[in-house]
Amino acid sequence: MSMKTLRDVFVETLRERGVESLGTLSKRFRKSKDRIRDMALAVFYDLGAIAELPEPTNVAWDLGGRVTEGSKYAYVPSCMVPRFRIILDSDGLRARLPKWPYFIVDLMHWDKHTQTEKGKLCLQIVQAYSLVKSRFTGKELAVTWANAEFRDMIYMPLDRITAYPGPTSEFLREKGIDEVVLLDPWAEETLSESDLNLGAFIIGGIVDTSGSKRKTTPRIGEVLEEAGITVRRRKITLRGDVMGVPDRINRIIGILLRMMEGVPMDEAVYEFQEPRHAKWRLRRELPKRAFYVNVNGERRKAVSLSLLKEYEGWLKIRKKDFLKVAREMGLVVIDPEGDTGNILK
Ligand SMILES: C[S@@+](CC[C@H](N)C(=O)[O-])C[C@H]1O[C@@H](n2cnc3c(N)ncnc32)[C@H](O)[C@@H]1O
Repeated sequence: MSMKTLRDVFVETLRERGVESLGTLSKRFRKSKDRIRDMALAVFYDLGAIAELPEPTNVAWDLGGRVTEGSKYAYVPSCMVPRFRIILDSDGLRARLPKWPYFIVDLMHWDKHTQTEKGKLCLQIVQAYSLVKSRFTGKELAVTWANAEFRDMIYMPLDRITAYPGPTSEFLREKGIDEVVLLDPWAEETLSESDLNLGAFIIGGIVDTSGSKRKTTPRIGEVLEEAGITVRRRKITLRGDVMGVPDRINRIIGILLRMMEGVPMDEAVYEFQEPRHAKWRLRRELPKRAFYVNVNGERRKAVSLSLLKEYEGWLKIRKKDFLKVAREMGLVVIDPEGDTGNILK
């Protein structure tokens, strides 16, 4: 069963209190893609509350987000709250929240990065925040070893996430967590559904633009174990292989969140994959499917273009990527549906 989101809890609580639709007295949600979720977040952060109005609003949305006729219940901004009877406020909502897990970005290796890499790391954390916030509150994203330079560099209000200056093990101890999943591309075991109910998931705060930080993730696990934490090292794979799995922190967190919704790993990976990752994987796949052909009396290795259809089901690959990778690998591409000699240049 997938984990309840902030929106789910908000809707459930409102229904219990007899609310089936909401208007708004604030302009805050004009551009919202998901109004109900954004109202839930605004209530959580105490920017406003849900109130009963003396007169119905002109426009309202049902709790599924569809436009409906006016409602006598609405989101009202904080400054107007004292004028109305409140149905649900921040404290009321917080009291209903389940225990969501922490997604911890461990910055133990911060000093091994160049300034450009540190900038990228911060950007990925901001992007991870927006993913976590779309299901929970954003506070579930924790950054440990959050030093002064990081606080200075990151381009977002830090009180929206959980920034912790000390070691990860200390943070875990404060939260009463003694077992974690470490997302680790070097792990033996693949992440499975039975790992998804733990209280914390650790992601290495590591950006690789050069090969200098090889095998730095397992080190994070060792440090945790030395501090007495039980660590389940788990890798995310695509059809059994880490090749083709995007390795950016935000994408790893995105995959994890989708798996928590019950999406199978391969599908979640596909969703966050870029053609760049798919090409890496293709380089590993094509040689397995190559055969010999005779081209102008020369024996050459070839692959069939019909493979593209097969790969398209699980790799974000386009025809031009397929042709490019084959060419780079010195493979001739045969088009079984073509009419002249079938060889693609
Ligand atoms: C860019 S990777 C860093 C990898 C690092 N250079 C190493 O060799 O360990 C950033 C983080 O994303 C996570 N990650 C990347 N690929 C992963 C995979 N296939 N499975 C699990 N976690 C992964 C890990 O937590 C890792 O620390």
